[in-house]
Amino acid sequence: MKSKDNDKKNVIKRLKQLASLIKKHNYYYHNKDNPIISDKEYDLLVKENQELEKNYPELKLKNSPNNQIGSKILNKFKKITHKSSMLSLPNAFEEKDIYEFDERIKKFLNYKKDEKLEYLCEPKIDGLSLNLTYENGKLTSAATRGDGNIGEDVSKNILHIKNIPKQIKFDYPKIIEVRGEVYLTKKDFENLNNQLNDTDKFANPRNAAAGSLRQLDSRISQSRPLKFIAHGLGYCTEVFDTLVDYYENLKKWGIYPNILRKKFSSIDLIMHYYNEINDLRSTLDYDIDGLVIKLNNIENQIRLGVVGKNPRWSIALKFSAEKARTVINSIDFQVGRTGAITPVARLNKVNLGGVLIANATLHNFDEINKKNIGVGDLVEIQRAGDVIPQINKVIKKNKIKQVAILPPNKCPVCESKTLKEEGEAVLRCTNKYNCYAQQLGQIIHFISKKGLNIDGFGEKQAKQLFDLKIIKNISDIFKLNKYKKAIVSLDGWGDLSFNNLLKSIEKSKKITFDKFIYSLGIRFIGEINSEIIANEYKSIDNFLKLKINNENLFNIDGLGPKAIASINEFFSYQKNVQLLEELKRFVEIKYAKNKLIKKFFTNKNLVFTGTLTTLSRDEAKHMSKSVGAKILSSVSKNTDYLIAGEKAGSKIDKAKKLKINILSEKDFISKIKN
Ligand code: IVH
Repeated sequence: MKSKDNDKKNVIKRLKQLASLIKKHNYYYHNKDNPIISDKEYDLLVKENQELEKNYPELKLKNSPNNQIGSKILNKFKKITHKSSMLSLPNAFEEKDIYEFDERIKKFLNYKKDEKLEYLCEPKIDGLSLNLTYENGKLTSAATRGDGNIGEDVSKNILHIKNIPKQIKFDYPKIIEVRGEVYLTKKDFENLNNQLNDTDKFANPRNAAAGSLRQLDSRISQSRPLKFIAHGLGYCTEVFDTLVDYYENLKKWGIYPNILRKKFSSIDLIMHYYNEINDLRSTLDYDIDGLVIKLNNIENQIRLGVVGKNPRWSIALKFSAEKARTVINSIDFQVGRTGAITPVARLNKVNLGGVLIANATLHNFDEINKKNIGVGDLVEIQRAGDVIPQINKVIKKNKIKQVAILPPNKCPVCESKTLKEEGEAVLRCTNKYNCYAQQLGQIIHFISKKGLNIDGFGEKQAKQLFDLKIIKNISDIFKLNKYKKAIVSLDGWGDLSFNNLLKSIEKSKKITFDKFIYSLGIRFIGEINSEIIANEYKSIDNFLKLKINNENLFNIDGLGPKAIASINEFFSYQKNVQLLEELKRFVEIKYAKNKLIKKFFTNKNLVFTGTLTTLSRDEAKHMSKSVGAKILSSVSKNTDYLIAGEKAGSKIDKAKKLKINILSEKDFISKIKN
């Protein structure tokens, strides 16, 4: 009897906790538009609450989150799949990045250096993007960006926005996705905040616009003076020659792009315009944070395509980041997942653009010397985007004599020797597989958002279980059920959180191949390189064969020598191979479905040599990959075709010797286009 009573007490306690947690997170999500937990974490709370209420109906609280918000929690927005992905812009911070951007594009398109390309430039508005779908001229949906592929259906919430016609009257394509930014003017933001209680006030116009758009009660959204400026084109059944043409059509339909857009054919002039807009910034009635530069010609945009989630044909040159001044209290050393030893400045807390900053990275020891940074100094810090703040410069030196900050000979965590590799700025701990910080760092990387994304499993829990040796390496994460008794008795854990963790782990087992590779945390194998490897090797077994078939290791197009050396090193350590074999049993890797229609070069191994004249190397490779060919960097018996441009060298001789088909650039183009 007693234990039943205890059970009930625990359930009531948990229901109360859940009610308050859900209330808090609803507030951050709906009022602040700044959720502090992931959707999945939120759903888990709601689900846990529902299950408890179902099992113990008599204990349901009067202020149950279900009663209070009813449909609000359960009917979150409907999801909408965009017909073409919503990309994000790569950021640039200096002039030189824009000159390099222009050079990259010309190289890809095989333009001469002195040829001119047309760019359309317009301010980068600090709002949130919206995808409008028109079918036969009728607005059929409006969706937020979401993860780029699937967004939230906010169709009812935008009906009042003037610049968004419900029906296009003439000359419309059968289907078109019009993209743009929803925002609030600075004035409307202030007016709105003046009407809200202190706790409901928004931090900035962007959050206010997002919070106003993403209201479950569309009447609230419709009462907010949201505005829309068009800036992009998604899927369309018709073709436009240039962005300028597209914008002209939009205007005819009653959808307006930014009036500050301007076309240029010279980077010097773009830089001039950037400064002009920066000067105008404070006089504009909406927030902007940079200048977006877009290639005007749409056919060329398509040729250039996408890298990861970024288009090759556009870039955002940001205005300078927010700055603040504070004092350095101490300097510590942090050891990362790859052994990098980074000096970190512990600061007197300071507010930087609404965020309280307590730490800043000092990158490496050369930087400390160069900037002459020491404890007690008054410094200027800066934060660009979401990255860790950095120290720009010393404003005033501390007068008391300072102890020099020297690179440690020993790892501050495991005391092994440290080493600075040739040509590298970073000092590293050499104890790669046994340093506490590196081992724990690898586990944290594995479970992180971009890796397996295990809900409810953060750094704190990982450290706790690593310290207790329950998790010694990443595959132990899948064996936690053996330790239920030990874990539920730990501080911060209980039956429910443990069971939820097991459920999240179960869910995380389904992972795409590129994410799986990324989650291994191999040095130099970030998201893009993981994608390259996943595309090349197609399956984990092929990847494991790498160890045996050394030749492939040097033949991965797009991977630099450091990345290749790093994979070689990873596989040379037998324990890593064992680890992969073991992980293979636990995870369910999802492989990309080959949707390709078989073309001439599909599944063929190609090698390029010599100078191409019509196409650039990059574009030829890009075209080949898009039909499912594999590019190798050297000729071997595995090569199907050698594509030889002008002034081809020794590869031709080798191909002839191995009796490999040799194609000219012209042959290649005619075959790939067929
Ligand atoms: S073009 C190819 N133009 O910035 C990407 N975006 O990271 C298409 N944004 O999600 C975007 N002003 O919400 C473009 N003039 C502008 C923009 C703009 C703001 C936002 C947009 C996008 C994000 C890019």
